[in-house]
Amino acid sequence: MDNPFREFLVSRNAPEPCTIVIFGATGDLTHRKLIPALYNMHSAGDLPAGTRVIGFARREKSHEQFRTELAEMNRKVSRSGHSEDDWNLFANSIFYHQSEFQDESGYQGLSTFLAELEKDCANPPNRLYYLASAPEFFDDILEKMRVTGLNETSGNGWARVVVEKPFGTDLKTAQRLNSIVNATFDEKDTYRIDHYLGKETAQNIMVLRFANAIFEPIWNNRHIDHVQITCAENLGMEGGRGGYYDTAGALRDMVQNHLLQLFSLIAMEPPVDLSADGIRDEKVKVIKSLRPMEGRVGENAVRAQYTEGTILGEVVPGYRQEDRIAPNSMTEPYVALRLQIQNWRWEGVPFYMRMGKRLPKKVTEISIHFKEPPGVLFSHFPVTARENVLTIRIQPDEGISLRMLSKIPGPSIRMEPVKMDFHYSSSFGKASPEAYERLLLDAMAGDATLFARRDEVENAWHFIDQIEHGWHGVDETLQPPMAEYPAGTWGPTEADELLHRDGRRWRRL
Ligand code: BG6
Repeated sequence: MDNPFREFLVSRNAPEPCTIVIFGATGDLTHRKLIPALYNMHSAGDLPAGTRVIGFARREKSHEQFRTELAEMNRKVSRSGHSEDDWNLFANSIFYHQSEFQDESGYQGLSTFLAELEKDCANPPNRLYYLASAPEFFDDILEKMRVTGLNETSGNGWARVVVEKPFGTDLKTAQRLNSIVNATFDEKDTYRIDHYLGKETAQNIMVLRFANAIFEPIWNNRHIDHVQITCAENLGMEGGRGGYYDTAGALRDMVQNHLLQLFSLIAMEPPVDLSADGIRDEKVKVIKSLRPMEGRVGENAVRAQYTEGTILGEVVPGYRQEDRIAPNSMTEPYVALRLQIQNWRWEGVPFYMRMGKRLPKKVTEISIHFKEPPGVLFSHFPVTARENVLTIRIQPDEGISLRMLSKIPGPSIRMEPVKMDFHYSSSFGKASPEAYERLLLDAMAGDATLFARRDEVENAWHFIDQIEHGWHGVDETLQPPMAEYPAGTWGPTEADELLHRDGRRWRRL
């Protein structure tokens, strides 16, 4: 049985066949994520018949060469395996178009090519443009599309754009990019992708909260002590990522988008309906309710870099020794935050958030820590942990569990925490689709629910900018220090301190 909320969403609009034009088609994202997602949709019979893909990139290559390169990667990474027969059917609809991003004639060529492909086709001339290039080319691509009329629709077709992250590097650049995007495409045709929203368990947060009767009445400051959101990765700067990463850091790379999205799903008020705007209105509201960080960065935010350490038995270098990282870098591959929401539901409930590279393992989860029961009856019995904790495991081992106290069998009263556990894999017996599969289908269906709206992105940047400013924008002597942790450990002691000061500690994962 599928997640009922998704069934509802998908049943509203069916994905429609279209030509997907991927800008930056020779990059990692196309090879590792987009094409395998489309291939898996094709194999499962979910890709609407007549869908085509055109890769747009700078290197010279033939259609056949492009298909061969994509097949090589698909064999390695496709979640459902790789069948040559299925692939060949799918690959017949993949094409390559060579052009520089700044070269107008390349876009005119693309327009001619699209018209040719669409000429003898029974489907409407729908086009989904996907900006998967390096972000510095987004402006050029959008501008050239506008000048050459690629953004316009013809006949009964539609034209939509999917924009990959990073969506700007601060509020100013995000606003600028938004105005360029919206000068080319209407907001309703703009899909700012955040792949965390496509993760099955992230989508399930709304079902958990609003399709069940038992959680919402206690989802507030009367019953919840605090919330923790952890996104841990054991990887460092593999695959030449250092160049980009050192200009971004954990706060911009993950918190501004993925973690604030998870946060808003947990903390938002119930939406008036399940429409894209109904949900996004509430997400924006809760992001706007975050207590400003100005003047409080030192006490509410910890940044850190890893030093040399051991991961899975292997010695790995420190952050500053990684490939393409400046030896005196002040960029943080680890961040821990203490957030406060200023509204009736959450006043006084801290949300602790941490994200780090080179931690002991890859795991993303949200835990809701409930207040302890009144100090009577069982309060004098010794236990290792007293609070009830509801855990939402985003990845891996997607699921939800509830920790509670139970009596240990035997003649005397002794108590121990036990878990009520739901695992997607055992309850539904099938692997969840990749986030990109879900999101591509939604964009083809015209459903923007799982994509970020302009004001969501800008309000998130407004908040993040205050922390960045506290770290980089003030007198150097006032800037909080860069903490350190050995690779393979759970972050710096300063992050532990952030919770100890409030009489709490990070959940052990
Ligand atoms: C990306 C970030 O958006 O998300 C990466 O740029 C990060 O730094 C990745 O590793 C994590 O995604 P996932 O789906 O593997 O948790």
